[in-house]
Amino acid sequence: MENLGDIKLKLLYPEDHIQDAVRRLADRISDDYEGEKLHLIIVLKGAFIFAADLARRLRLPVTFDFIRLSSYCGMETTGDVSMINDCITPVRGKHLLVVEDIVDTGTSLQFLLQWLVRNEPKSLRVCALIDKRGRRRMPVVVDYAGIVCDDGFLVGYGLDLDERCRELPGIYEVVTNQLSGGLDDSPM
Ligand code: IMP
Ligand code: MG
Repeated sequence: MENLGDIKLKLLYPEDHIQDAVRRLADRISDDYEGEKLHLIIVLKGAFIFAADLARRLRLPVTFDFIRLSSYCGMETTGDVSMINDCITPVRGKHLLVVEDIVDTGTSLQFLLQWLVRNEPKSLRVCALIDKRGRRRMPVVVDYAGIVCDDGFLVGYGLDLDERCRELPGIYEVVTNQLSGGLDDSPM
């Protein structure tokens, strides 16, 4: 058992559950865009593992851009989104699919969609591995959601708590963030 010292984690979605969700998403997207090219806008850092798995399952020609937004401090959104890296190839006339790890309040996604739409893509949709619908504050639509949940702070499979836990193959809920604990590997 891995000892994370100050964080206690509860396994919510094991690796095989996540891979099934990724496979279903890739099938739906491949069917919807059949015969088209798709340009993936991957939101760093959290979506890098999900995007790598998703892209390899798509039955479409895809191209990539990476964008970095920042709004989180610890487990709370600051509500103030900024674009750390906006160096992307021209998107005008392309079918864009934003690939997000998780949509929570929707603040950062709304910011990104407004920015992309100004650059006149042919179409614009969103794919998120996790749609934390219960916490939504902005009216954003997640066209392709892998897993829908209500609340809780999640880590693993790219998701972090202050840059930690991204490398875990499953997704865990942070149960406590105090001075004792570790991983509880029993699924809920
Ligand atoms: P939003 O702007 O509140 O929707 O938050 C979006 C971003 O915050 C996500 O793309 C994540 O990078 C991060 N985030 C939101 N909820 C979580 C979580 O439960 N764990 C880790 N990161 C999260
Ligand atoms: Mg993200």
